[in-house]
Amino acid sequence: MSTSANQERLASIGQSGVLRFYDSLDEAGKAKLDAQLAALDINTLPGLVDGYVKNKPKVDLPTDIKPVNAYPHSSDNDEYAKAKARGLELLKQGKVAAFLVAGGQGTRLGYEGPKGEYPVTPIKKKPLFQVFAEQLTAASKTAGKAIPWYIMTSDTNDAATRAFFEKHQYFGLDKSLIKFFPQGMMPAFDKGGDLLLASKDSLALSADGHGGSFRALRNSGALDDMKKRGIEHLSYFQVDNPIVKVIDPLFIGLHDLTGSEMSSKTINKAGPLEKVGNFCIGDGKTQVIEYSDLPESLAMQTNADGTRTFDAGSIAIHALRVSFIDRLTAPGSDLNLIWHRADKKVPFVNDAGELVKPTEPNAVKLEQFVFDAIPLASNPLIYTTKREDEFSPVKNADGNDSPATCTRDQIRLFARWLEAAGVSVPRKADGEPDATIEISPLFATSAEELKTKPLQVKKIEAGQSVYFG
Ligand code: UD1
Repeated sequence: MSTSANQERLASIGQSGVLRFYDSLDEAGKAKLDAQLAALDINTLPGLVDGYVKNKPKVDLPTDIKPVNAYPHSSDNDEYAKAKARGLELLKQGKVAAFLVAGGQGTRLGYEGPKGEYPVTPIKKKPLFQVFAEQLTAASKTAGKAIPWYIMTSDTNDAATRAFFEKHQYFGLDKSLIKFFPQGMMPAFDKGGDLLLASKDSLALSADGHGGSFRALRNSGALDDMKKRGIEHLSYFQVDNPIVKVIDPLFIGLHDLTGSEMSSKTINKAGPLEKVGNFCIGDGKTQVIEYSDLPESLAMQTNADGTRTFDAGSIAIHALRVSFIDRLTAPGSDLNLIWHRADKKVPFVNDAGELVKPTEPNAVKLEQFVFDAIPLASNPLIYTTKREDEFSPVKNADGNDSPATCTRDQIRLFARWLEAAGVSVPRKADGEPDATIEISPLFATSAEELKTKPLQVKKIEAGQSVYFG
Protein backbone atom coordinates (compact mmCIF):
# COMPACT_ATOMS: atom_id res chain seq x y z
CA MET A 1 0.00 0.00 0.00
CA SER A 2 1.33 3.46 -0.84
CA THR A 3 0.09 6.87 0.19
CA SER A 4 -0.71 9.70 -2.14
CA ALA A 5 1.73 12.58 -1.87
CA ASN A 6 -1.37 14.77 -1.81
CA GLN A 7 -3.01 13.05 1.15
CA GLU A 8 -2.19 15.61 3.81
CA ARG A 9 -3.01 18.60 1.67
CA LEU A 10 -6.37 17.09 0.73
CA ALA A 11 -7.16 16.16 4.34
CA SER A 12 -6.46 19.74 5.44
CA ILE A 13 -9.21 21.01 3.14
CA GLY A 14 -11.67 18.15 3.71
CA GLN A 15 -11.27 16.67 0.21
CA SER A 16 -9.79 13.24 1.04
CA GLY A 17 -12.78 11.57 -0.60
CA VAL A 18 -11.07 11.64 -3.98
CA LEU A 19 -8.52 9.17 -2.62
CA ARG A 20 -11.14 6.62 -1.55
CA PHE A 21 -10.15 4.14 -4.27
CA TYR A 22 -6.44 5.01 -4.19
CA ASP A 23 -5.32 1.78 -2.52
CA SER A 24 -7.02 -0.30 -5.18
CA LEU A 25 -5.31 1.49 -8.09
CA ASP A 26 -2.32 0.13 -9.97
CA GLU A 27 0.85 2.23 -10.14
CA ALA A 28 -0.20 3.95 -13.36
CA GLY A 29 -3.59 4.86 -11.89
CA LYS A 30 -2.00 6.23 -8.74
CA ALA A 31 0.46 8.28 -10.77
CA LYS A 32 -2.33 9.66 -12.94
CA LEU A 33 -4.47 10.80 -10.02
CA ASP A 34 -1.46 12.19 -8.18
CA ALA A 35 -0.45 14.23 -11.23
CA GLN A 36 -3.95 15.67 -11.58
CA LEU A 37 -4.05 16.58 -7.90
CA ALA A 38 -0.59 18.10 -8.00
CA ALA A 39 -1.68 20.35 -10.88
CA LEU A 40 -4.55 21.78 -8.80
CA ASP A 41 -4.07 24.95 -6.85
CA ILE A 42 -5.34 23.20 -3.74
CA ASN A 43 -5.07 26.27 -1.50
CA THR A 44 -7.66 28.11 -3.54
CA LEU A 45 -10.25 25.30 -3.46
CA PRO A 46 -11.89 26.07 -0.08
CA GLY A 47 -12.45 29.69 -1.15
CA LEU A 48 -13.99 28.56 -4.45
CA VAL A 49 -16.22 26.01 -2.71
CA ASP A 50 -17.52 28.63 -0.27
CA GLY A 51 -17.82 31.45 -2.76
CA TYR A 52 -19.17 29.63 -5.80
CA VAL A 53 -20.31 26.09 -5.03
CA LYS A 54 -22.03 25.91 -1.64
CA ASN A 55 -23.33 29.43 -2.13
CA LYS A 56 -24.41 30.66 -5.52
CA PRO A 57 -22.31 33.73 -6.25
CA LYS A 58 -24.33 36.91 -6.39
CA VAL A 59 -23.97 38.57 -9.79
CA ASP A 60 -22.47 41.89 -8.84
CA LEU A 61 -23.99 44.08 -11.49
CA PRO A 62 -22.68 47.62 -11.59
CA THR A 63 -25.16 50.09 -10.09
CA ASP A 64 -24.81 52.50 -12.98
CA ILE A 65 -25.02 50.82 -16.41
CA LYS A 66 -24.69 52.97 -19.52
CA PRO A 67 -24.32 52.11 -23.20
CA VAL A 68 -20.80 51.98 -24.52
CA ASN A 69 -19.38 54.57 -26.87
CA ALA A 70 -18.08 52.43 -29.71
CA TYR A 71 -16.06 53.47 -32.76
CA PRO A 72 -18.56 53.42 -35.62
CA HIS A 73 -18.32 51.32 -38.74
CA SER A 74 -17.16 53.48 -41.63
CA SER A 75 -15.29 52.87 -44.82
CA ASP A 76 -14.35 56.45 -45.52
CA ASN A 77 -12.55 58.06 -42.66
CA ASP A 78 -9.07 59.56 -42.22
CA GLU A 79 -8.50 58.11 -38.79
CA TYR A 80 -9.29 54.61 -40.06
CA ALA A 81 -7.02 55.04 -43.07
CA LYS A 82 -4.17 55.91 -40.70
CA ALA A 83 -5.11 53.01 -38.45
CA LYS A 84 -5.04 50.55 -41.35
CA ALA A 85 -1.64 51.81 -42.45
CA ARG A 86 -0.38 51.45 -38.88
CA GLY A 87 -1.76 47.91 -38.67
CA LEU A 88 -0.01 46.95 -41.90
CA GLU A 89 3.22 48.48 -40.64
CA LEU A 90 3.02 46.47 -37.39
CA LEU A 91 2.40 43.31 -39.41
CA LYS A 92 5.34 44.01 -41.67
CA GLN A 93 7.51 44.50 -38.60
CA GLY A 94 6.44 41.11 -37.27
CA LYS A 95 4.79 42.62 -34.20
CA VAL A 96 1.43 40.87 -34.55
CA ALA A 97 0.45 37.24 -33.97
CA ALA A 98 -2.85 35.40 -34.28
CA PHE A 99 -4.32 33.80 -31.19
CA LEU A 100 -7.03 31.16 -31.46
CA VAL A 101 -8.85 29.85 -28.40
CA ALA A 102 -9.87 26.31 -29.19
CA GLY A 103 -9.97 24.62 -25.82
CA GLY A 104 -13.74 24.33 -25.59
CA GLN A 105 -15.87 21.35 -26.54
CA GLY A 106 -18.40 21.35 -29.34
CA THR A 107 -21.08 19.92 -27.04
CA ARG A 108 -24.00 21.96 -28.43
CA LEU A 109 -22.95 21.18 -32.00
CA GLY A 110 -22.79 17.50 -31.14
CA TYR A 111 -19.35 17.15 -32.75
CA GLU A 112 -17.02 14.77 -30.94
CA GLY A 113 -13.55 15.92 -32.00
CA PRO A 114 -11.89 19.35 -31.74
CA LYS A 115 -14.38 21.87 -33.13
CA GLY A 116 -11.77 23.29 -35.51
CA GLU A 117 -11.99 20.04 -37.50
CA TYR A 118 -15.60 20.76 -38.35
CA PRO A 119 -16.14 20.94 -42.16
CA VAL A 120 -17.60 24.37 -42.66
CA THR A 121 -17.19 25.88 -46.13
CA PRO A 122 -20.03 25.64 -48.67
CA ILE A 123 -18.33 23.61 -51.42
CA LYS A 124 -14.94 22.25 -50.37
CA LYS A 125 -16.14 21.57 -46.82
CA LYS A 126 -12.87 22.87 -45.47
CA PRO A 127 -12.45 22.52 -41.73
CA LEU A 128 -12.50 25.69 -39.62
CA PHE A 129 -8.77 25.30 -38.91
CA GLN A 130 -8.02 25.34 -42.64
CA VAL A 131 -10.05 28.50 -43.22
CA PHE A 132 -8.03 30.29 -40.52
CA ALA A 133 -4.75 28.87 -41.84
CA GLU A 134 -5.50 30.08 -45.36
CA GLN A 135 -6.39 33.52 -44.05
CA LEU A 136 -3.06 33.63 -42.24
CA THR A 137 -1.19 32.57 -45.36
CA ALA A 138 -2.92 35.38 -47.26
CA ALA A 139 -2.31 37.98 -44.52
CA SER A 140 1.36 36.97 -44.24
CA LYS A 141 1.73 37.42 -47.99
CA THR A 142 0.17 40.88 -47.89
CA ALA A 143 2.35 41.87 -44.94
CA GLY A 144 5.50 40.43 -46.47
CA LYS A 145 6.16 38.77 -43.14
CA ALA A 146 5.06 35.41 -41.75
CA ILE A 147 2.54 35.76 -38.93
CA PRO A 148 2.95 33.39 -35.97
CA TRP A 149 -0.14 31.55 -34.74
CA TYR A 150 -0.76 30.57 -31.12
CA ILE A 151 -3.46 27.97 -30.60
CA MET A 152 -4.87 27.25 -27.17
CA THR A 153 -6.17 23.72 -26.75
CA SER A 154 -7.19 21.79 -23.64
CA ASP A 155 -6.23 18.38 -22.29
CA THR A 156 -9.40 17.06 -23.90
CA ASN A 157 -8.42 17.97 -27.46
CA ASP A 158 -4.72 18.87 -27.49
CA ALA A 159 -3.39 15.60 -28.95
CA ALA A 160 -6.21 15.38 -31.52
CA THR A 161 -5.69 19.00 -32.59
CA ARG A 162 -1.95 18.53 -33.09
CA ALA A 163 -2.53 15.27 -34.98
CA PHE A 164 -5.05 16.98 -37.27
CA PHE A 165 -2.62 19.74 -38.21
CA GLU A 166 0.18 17.22 -38.72
CA LYS A 167 -2.05 15.06 -40.94
CA HIS A 168 -2.86 18.09 -43.09
CA GLN A 169 0.75 19.34 -43.26
CA TYR A 170 -0.22 22.40 -41.24
CA PHE A 171 -2.36 23.54 -44.16
CA GLY A 172 0.71 24.88 -45.88
CA LEU A 173 1.92 27.00 -42.96
CA ASP A 174 5.44 26.84 -41.62
CA LYS A 175 5.15 24.48 -38.66
CA SER A 176 7.68 26.47 -36.62
CA LEU A 177 5.30 29.43 -36.61
CA ILE A 178 2.48 27.51 -34.93
CA LYS A 179 2.53 27.01 -31.20
CA PHE A 180 -0.08 24.79 -29.56
CA PHE A 181 -0.49 24.91 -25.80
CA PRO A 182 -3.12 23.42 -23.50
CA GLN A 183 -5.07 25.59 -21.12
CA GLY A 184 -5.59 24.81 -17.45
CA MET A 185 -8.25 22.42 -16.16
CA MET A 186 -10.66 22.91 -13.28
CA PRO A 187 -12.25 20.14 -11.22
CA ALA A 188 -16.01 19.73 -11.03
CA PHE A 189 -17.63 19.76 -7.60
CA ASP A 190 -20.81 18.14 -6.37
CA LYS A 191 -23.34 20.54 -4.91
CA GLY A 192 -21.90 19.96 -1.43
CA GLY A 193 -18.49 21.13 -2.60
CA ASP A 194 -16.74 17.74 -2.84
CA LEU A 195 -14.48 17.06 -5.81
CA LEU A 196 -15.98 14.55 -8.23
CA LEU A 197 -14.20 11.55 -9.70
CA ALA A 198 -14.73 10.74 -13.38
CA SER A 199 -13.20 7.32 -12.75
CA LYS A 200 -11.43 5.75 -9.80
CA ASP A 201 -8.11 7.17 -10.98
CA SER A 202 -9.24 10.48 -12.42
CA LEU A 203 -10.87 13.70 -11.28
CA ALA A 204 -13.79 15.07 -13.28
CA LEU A 205 -11.91 17.91 -14.99
CA SER A 206 -12.87 20.45 -17.61
CA ALA A 207 -11.20 23.42 -19.25
CA ASP A 208 -11.02 26.55 -17.08
CA GLY A 209 -12.69 28.89 -19.61
CA HIS A 210 -11.16 31.13 -22.26
CA GLY A 211 -10.27 33.51 -19.42
CA GLY A 212 -7.79 30.80 -18.48
CA SER A 213 -5.90 31.75 -21.62
CA PHE A 214 -3.97 34.48 -19.79
CA ARG A 215 -2.60 32.00 -17.25
CA ALA A 216 -1.99 29.40 -19.95
CA LEU A 217 -0.07 31.86 -22.14
CA ARG A 218 2.34 32.47 -19.27
CA ASN A 219 2.57 28.93 -17.89
CA SER A 220 3.09 27.32 -21.29
CA GLY A 221 5.96 29.61 -22.25
CA ALA A 222 3.92 31.11 -25.11
CA LEU A 223 4.21 34.56 -23.57
CA ASP A 224 8.01 34.27 -23.38
CA ASP A 225 8.03 33.04 -26.95
CA MET A 226 6.07 36.13 -28.03
CA LYS A 227 8.42 38.45 -26.20
CA LYS A 228 11.40 36.74 -27.82
CA ARG A 229 9.87 37.18 -31.25
CA GLY A 230 9.12 40.84 -30.55
CA ILE A 231 5.36 40.39 -30.78
CA GLU A 232 3.40 43.30 -29.31
CA HIS A 233 -0.20 42.51 -30.20
CA LEU A 234 -2.39 39.42 -30.43
CA SER A 235 -5.38 39.10 -32.71
CA TYR A 236 -7.72 36.95 -30.58
CA PHE A 237 -10.54 34.90 -32.10
CA GLN A 238 -12.77 31.91 -31.37
CA VAL A 239 -12.81 28.62 -33.20
CA ASP A 240 -16.46 28.71 -34.28
CA ASN A 241 -16.61 31.62 -36.74
CA PRO A 242 -15.22 31.05 -40.26
CA ILE A 243 -15.90 34.60 -41.47
CA VAL A 244 -13.84 36.20 -38.71
CA LYS A 245 -11.05 38.41 -40.05
CA VAL A 246 -8.22 36.51 -38.44
CA ILE A 247 -5.99 39.51 -39.08
CA ASP A 248 -7.61 42.94 -39.49
CA PRO A 249 -5.00 45.68 -40.01
CA LEU A 250 -7.55 48.45 -39.33
CA PHE A 251 -8.62 47.01 -35.98
CA ILE A 252 -5.04 46.25 -34.90
CA GLY A 253 -3.85 49.70 -35.98
CA LEU A 254 -6.68 51.47 -34.15
CA HIS A 255 -5.97 49.41 -31.04
CA ASP A 256 -2.29 50.35 -31.22
CA LEU A 257 -2.70 54.04 -32.00
CA THR A 258 -5.23 54.61 -29.21
CA GLY A 259 -3.00 52.95 -26.62
CA SER A 260 -5.65 50.35 -25.89
CA GLU A 261 -4.52 47.32 -23.90
CA MET A 262 -7.53 45.26 -24.91
CA SER A 263 -9.86 46.04 -27.80
CA SER A 264 -13.04 44.35 -28.94
CA LYS A 265 -15.28 44.21 -31.96
CA THR A 266 -19.00 44.69 -31.59
CA ILE A 267 -22.04 44.29 -33.83
CA ASN A 268 -25.58 45.56 -33.44
CA LYS A 269 -27.62 42.84 -31.81
CA ALA A 270 -30.12 40.85 -33.86
CA GLY A 271 -32.74 41.37 -31.14
CA PRO A 272 -32.85 42.70 -27.57
CA LEU A 273 -32.38 39.25 -26.05
CA GLU A 274 -29.85 37.82 -28.49
CA LYS A 275 -27.54 35.42 -26.67
CA VAL A 276 -24.37 37.47 -26.95
CA GLY A 277 -22.50 39.45 -24.33
CA ASN A 278 -23.36 43.16 -24.07
CA PHE A 279 -20.68 45.85 -24.06
CA CYS A 280 -21.63 48.45 -21.45
CA ILE A 281 -20.07 51.08 -19.23
CA GLY A 282 -20.65 49.81 -15.73
CA ASP A 283 -19.76 52.16 -12.89
CA GLY A 284 -17.50 54.01 -15.29
CA LYS A 285 -15.69 50.96 -16.68
CA THR A 286 -16.05 49.33 -20.08
CA GLN A 287 -17.15 45.74 -19.62
CA VAL A 288 -19.21 42.88 -20.99
CA ILE A 289 -22.41 41.86 -19.24
CA GLU A 290 -23.50 38.40 -20.42
CA TYR A 291 -26.98 38.17 -21.93
CA SER A 292 -28.05 36.04 -18.99
CA ASP A 293 -27.08 38.79 -16.53
CA LEU A 294 -28.33 41.92 -18.29
CA PRO A 295 -31.65 42.89 -16.67
CA GLU A 296 -34.44 42.51 -19.20
CA SER A 297 -35.60 46.08 -18.54
CA LEU A 298 -32.22 47.31 -19.82
CA ALA A 299 -32.10 44.83 -22.70
CA MET A 300 -35.49 46.13 -23.89
CA GLN A 301 -34.73 49.83 -23.31
CA THR A 302 -34.94 52.10 -26.35
CA ASN A 303 -33.70 55.61 -27.09
CA ALA A 304 -35.91 58.56 -28.07
CA ASP A 305 -35.38 57.67 -31.76
CA GLY A 306 -36.55 54.10 -31.19
CA THR A 307 -33.11 52.47 -31.47
CA ARG A 308 -31.98 50.02 -28.82
CA THR A 309 -30.01 51.56 -25.94
CA PHE A 310 -27.94 48.44 -25.25
CA ASP A 311 -27.20 47.22 -28.73
CA ALA A 312 -23.47 46.49 -28.67
CA GLY A 313 -23.16 42.71 -28.89
CA SER A 314 -19.87 40.94 -28.27
CA ILE A 315 -18.58 38.66 -31.00
CA ALA A 316 -15.56 37.60 -28.99
CA ILE A 317 -12.97 39.16 -31.28
CA HIS A 318 -10.26 41.07 -29.47
CA ALA A 319 -6.85 42.64 -29.86
CA LEU A 320 -4.60 42.19 -26.86
CA ARG A 321 -1.34 43.88 -25.98
CA VAL A 322 1.32 41.35 -24.99
CA SER A 323 2.45 43.78 -22.26
CA PHE A 324 -1.10 43.67 -20.84
CA ILE A 325 -1.03 39.88 -20.62
CA ASP A 326 2.39 40.14 -19.01
CA ARG A 327 1.06 42.63 -16.46
CA LEU A 328 -2.04 40.59 -15.66
CA THR A 329 -0.14 37.38 -15.10
CA ALA A 330 3.07 38.67 -13.51
CA PRO A 331 3.99 36.60 -10.43
CA GLY A 332 2.30 38.24 -7.46
CA SER A 333 -0.20 40.10 -9.61
CA ASP A 334 -3.57 40.26 -7.89
CA LEU A 335 -5.46 41.03 -11.09
CA ASN A 336 -7.67 37.97 -10.78
CA LEU A 337 -10.60 37.36 -13.09
CA ILE A 338 -13.80 36.30 -11.40
CA TRP A 339 -15.12 32.76 -11.81
CA HIS A 340 -18.46 31.98 -13.40
CA ARG A 341 -20.52 29.09 -12.11
CA ALA A 342 -22.34 26.67 -14.40
CA ASP A 343 -24.55 23.85 -13.11
CA LYS A 344 -23.97 20.83 -15.36
CA LYS A 345 -24.59 17.12 -15.70
CA VAL A 346 -21.24 15.55 -14.93
CA PRO A 347 -20.85 11.74 -14.90
CA PHE A 348 -19.14 10.60 -11.71
CA VAL A 349 -18.04 7.54 -9.76
CA ASN A 350 -20.15 6.94 -6.64
CA ASP A 351 -19.01 5.46 -3.35
CA ALA A 352 -19.70 1.94 -4.63
CA GLY A 353 -17.29 2.61 -7.50
CA GLU A 354 -20.03 2.70 -10.14
CA LEU A 355 -20.18 5.28 -12.89
CA VAL A 356 -23.35 7.38 -12.60
CA LYS A 357 -24.67 9.35 -15.58
CA PRO A 358 -26.94 11.99 -14.10
CA THR A 359 -30.07 13.14 -15.89
CA GLU A 360 -30.23 16.42 -13.95
CA PRO A 361 -27.43 18.90 -13.27
CA ASN A 362 -25.53 17.42 -10.32
CA ALA A 363 -22.31 19.38 -10.43
CA VAL A 364 -20.78 22.81 -10.51
CA LYS A 365 -18.17 23.78 -13.07
CA LEU A 366 -16.19 27.00 -12.85
CA GLU A 367 -14.85 29.02 -15.77
CA GLN A 368 -13.18 32.36 -16.30
CA PHE A 369 -14.09 34.59 -19.25
CA VAL A 370 -11.56 36.54 -21.27
CA PHE A 371 -13.79 39.62 -21.53
CA ASP A 372 -13.67 40.07 -17.74
CA ALA A 373 -10.19 41.46 -18.37
CA ILE A 374 -11.58 44.47 -20.25
CA PRO A 375 -12.24 46.56 -17.10
CA LEU A 376 -8.61 45.91 -16.09
CA ALA A 377 -7.25 47.29 -19.37
CA SER A 378 -6.16 50.86 -20.08
CA ASN A 379 -8.08 52.67 -22.83
CA PRO A 380 -10.21 49.68 -23.84
CA LEU A 381 -11.56 50.25 -27.32
CA ILE A 382 -14.75 48.95 -28.90
CA TYR A 383 -15.02 48.98 -32.68
CA THR A 384 -18.28 48.39 -34.55
CA THR A 385 -18.33 46.00 -37.45
CA LYS A 386 -21.09 44.41 -39.48
CA ARG A 387 -22.51 41.03 -38.61
CA GLU A 388 -22.78 39.97 -42.25
CA ASP A 389 -19.09 40.72 -42.81
CA GLU A 390 -17.55 39.10 -39.77
CA PHE A 391 -19.81 36.97 -37.63
CA SER A 392 -21.54 33.70 -38.38
CA PRO A 393 -20.53 31.10 -35.81
CA VAL A 394 -21.30 27.40 -35.82
CA LYS A 395 -22.57 26.67 -32.33
CA ASN A 396 -25.75 24.60 -32.57
CA ALA A 397 -26.68 21.56 -34.66
CA ASP A 398 -29.82 23.32 -35.97
CA GLY A 399 -31.51 26.69 -35.89
CA ASN A 400 -29.52 29.84 -35.15
CA ASP A 401 -25.74 29.74 -35.42
CA SER A 402 -25.81 26.33 -37.05
CA PRO A 403 -23.95 24.80 -40.03
CA ALA A 404 -26.97 25.75 -42.19
CA THR A 405 -26.98 29.45 -41.25
CA CYS A 406 -23.19 29.60 -41.48
CA THR A 407 -23.18 28.13 -45.00
CA ARG A 408 -25.93 30.58 -45.99
CA ASP A 409 -23.98 33.53 -44.56
CA GLN A 410 -20.74 32.54 -46.30
CA ILE A 411 -22.55 32.29 -49.64
CA ARG A 412 -24.23 35.65 -49.06
CA LEU A 413 -20.86 37.24 -48.25
CA PHE A 414 -19.10 35.76 -51.29
CA ALA A 415 -22.03 36.76 -53.51
CA ARG A 416 -21.74 40.38 -52.32
CA TRP A 417 -17.99 40.39 -52.97
CA LEU A 418 -18.51 39.03 -56.47
CA GLU A 419 -21.23 41.55 -57.27
CA ALA A 420 -18.98 44.36 -56.02
CA ALA A 421 -16.35 43.03 -58.43
CA GLY A 422 -18.84 43.19 -61.30
CA VAL A 423 -19.84 39.52 -61.48
CA SER A 424 -23.54 38.84 -61.95
CA VAL A 425 -24.92 36.51 -59.29
CA PRO A 426 -28.38 34.94 -59.78
CA ARG A 427 -30.84 35.73 -57.00
CA LYS A 428 -34.00 33.89 -55.95
CA ALA A 429 -37.31 35.70 -55.47
CA ASP A 430 -36.49 36.19 -51.77
CA GLY A 431 -33.15 37.78 -52.69
CA GLU A 432 -30.94 34.85 -51.64
CA PRO A 433 -28.13 33.92 -54.06
CA ASP A 434 -29.31 31.10 -56.32
CA ALA A 435 -25.91 29.41 -56.47
CA THR A 436 -23.38 27.80 -54.17
CA ILE A 437 -20.28 29.96 -54.00
CA GLU A 438 -17.01 29.63 -52.15
CA ILE A 439 -14.00 31.93 -52.26
CA SER A 440 -10.79 30.63 -50.74
CA PRO A 441 -8.90 33.13 -48.58
CA LEU A 442 -5.95 32.24 -50.82
CA PHE A 443 -7.89 33.82 -53.69
CA ALA A 444 -9.28 36.88 -51.89
CA THR A 445 -10.04 37.87 -48.31
CA SER A 446 -12.24 40.89 -49.05
CA ALA A 447 -14.36 42.54 -51.71
CA GLU A 448 -11.56 45.07 -52.35
CA GLU A 449 -9.03 42.33 -52.95
CA LEU A 450 -11.39 40.43 -55.21
CA LYS A 451 -11.77 43.53 -57.38
CA THR A 452 -8.03 43.43 -58.11
CA LYS A 453 -8.19 39.83 -59.44
CA PRO A 454 -8.61 38.94 -63.09
CA LEU A 455 -11.94 37.07 -62.93
CA GLN A 456 -12.67 34.61 -65.76
CA VAL A 457 -16.29 34.31 -64.67
CA LYS A 458 -18.52 37.31 -65.40
CA LYS A 459 -21.83 35.64 -64.70
CA ILE A 460 -22.84 32.79 -62.43
CA GLU A 461 -25.73 30.65 -63.64
CA ALA A 462 -28.66 29.69 -61.42
CA GLY A 463 -28.00 26.51 -59.47
CA GLN A 464 -24.25 26.53 -60.25
CA SER A 465 -21.53 25.64 -57.73
CA VAL A 466 -18.52 27.89 -58.20
CA TYR A 467 -15.29 27.73 -56.25
CA PHE A 468 -12.63 30.43 -56.48
CA GLY A 469 -9.35 29.00 -55.24
C1 UD1 B 1 -19.25 33.29 -26.41
C2 UD1 B 1 -19.33 34.46 -25.44
C3 UD1 B 1 -20.40 35.45 -25.80
C4 UD1 B 1 -20.21 35.88 -27.26
C5 UD1 B 1 -20.21 34.66 -28.17
C6 UD1 B 1 -19.88 35.05 -29.58
C7 UD1 B 1 -18.73 33.33 -23.40
C8 UD1 B 1 -19.11 32.98 -22.02
N1 UD1 B 1 -19.59 33.97 -24.10
O1 UD1 B 1 -20.37 32.45 -26.17
O2 UD1 B 1 -20.32 36.61 -24.97
O3 UD1 B 1 -21.27 36.73 -27.61
O4 UD1 B 1 -19.19 33.73 -27.75
O5 UD1 B 1 -19.75 33.92 -30.40
O6 UD1 B 1 -17.65 33.06 -23.84
N2 UD1 B 1 -13.02 28.12 -25.15
C9 UD1 B 1 -11.78 27.72 -24.75
N3 UD1 B 1 -11.65 27.22 -23.49
C10 UD1 B 1 -12.69 27.09 -22.64
C11 UD1 B 1 -13.97 27.50 -23.07
C12 UD1 B 1 -14.10 28.00 -24.33
O7 UD1 B 1 -10.80 27.82 -25.49
O8 UD1 B 1 -12.48 26.62 -21.52
C13 UD1 B 1 -13.18 28.66 -26.52
C14 UD1 B 1 -13.97 27.74 -27.40
O9 UD1 B 1 -13.15 26.76 -27.99
C15 UD1 B 1 -14.52 28.73 -28.39
C16 UD1 B 1 -14.74 29.98 -27.54
O10 UD1 B 1 -13.90 29.86 -26.43
O11 UD1 B 1 -13.58 29.04 -29.40
C17 UD1 B 1 -16.19 30.25 -27.14
O12 UD1 B 1 -16.64 29.32 -26.25
P1 UD1 B 1 -18.16 28.97 -26.08
O13 UD1 B 1 -18.30 28.27 -24.79
O14 UD1 B 1 -18.63 28.27 -27.29
O15 UD1 B 1 -18.86 30.42 -25.96
P2 UD1 B 1 -20.35 30.85 -26.25
O16 UD1 B 1 -21.22 30.40 -25.14
O17 UD1 B 1 -20.74 30.44 -27.61
